[in-house]
Amino acid sequence: MTEVCTGNQTTRVMMCAPAHYSLEYEINPWMRLENRPDTELAAEQWSKLYEVLTTEAGAEVSLIGQVEGCPDMVFTANAGLVRGEIALLASFRHPQRALEEPHFAEWFSQNGYTVYMPPTGCRFEGEGDALFAGANLLAGYLKRSDICSHRWMAEMFSTTVLSLELVDDRWYHLDTCLLPLGDNRVAFYPGAFDAYAQTVIRHHYETIEVELDEALRFACNAVVIGETVVLPNGCPHLEANLRKLGYKPVSVEMSEFLKSGGASKCLTLLLN
Ligand code: ARG
Repeated sequence: MTEVCTGNQTTRVMMCAPAHYSLEYEINPWMRLENRPDTELAAEQWSKLYEVLTTEAGAEVSLIGQVEGCPDMVFTANAGLVRGEIALLASFRHPQRALEEPHFAEWFSQNGYTVYMPPTGCRFEGEGDALFAGANLLAGYLKRSDICSHRWMAEMFSTTVLSLELVDDRWYHLDTCLLPLGDNRVAFYPGAFDAYAQTVIRHHYETIEVELDEALRFACNAVVIGETVVLPNGCPHLEANLRKLGYKPVSVEMSEFLKSGGASKCLTLLLN
């Protein structure tokens, strides 16, 4: 097996327990007011994910408290993009989620990060649309984040950004359709990208293609810690492909978060 280990460094993530999680508005095609999450079940699914990440995967989890009136704050992947001591804060496309920004900003500064805001008028939804993969930062745009955020990230982190256009509303964030799996490999659902983005991805990485039915179950929305891949259940093909390559897939039930258009990855923000 190659390149799936991150070394001895403990992976640190930020999560938000679903104390006030609910579905109060529709801002992506998955969200329907008449299909609200069962909050008790959501709490159980979140706790299970927390347990898998901390015990099986050995991650260190920092928590932010959920603020009432911010029902999507559990999706901490969207809080920003963190590298070293720097946190690039999100600027959400939808006003309902913009309410989360000051709370995430406060958490970042209280936890020792220097917080930077995106250029005025430039929408940026954090790790939802920006994923480090090998030497590059892969960045999605059009649905939520604006392409102006790509230049900003490139400058702030002195990194190469590969801009990837998202073309299907169902995969509105990059982390819903692309999964970095160590230095040189990604899993992705081609149908979520325009033809040029597909070419870029295949040019830079060894790829695992995810099929439509599993992409619809958010197969790509997985947390990768060393060789452990914590993905939503019901994605046997991706699991089999991962196993063949030496990864250890662990599936978790995410039904109540899928109703809001999120799964395991959306519920975590990488801190290192
Ligand atoms: N309901 C949330 C939204 O539409 C879900 C966010 C999912 N987060 C993610 N990183 N894909 O904004």
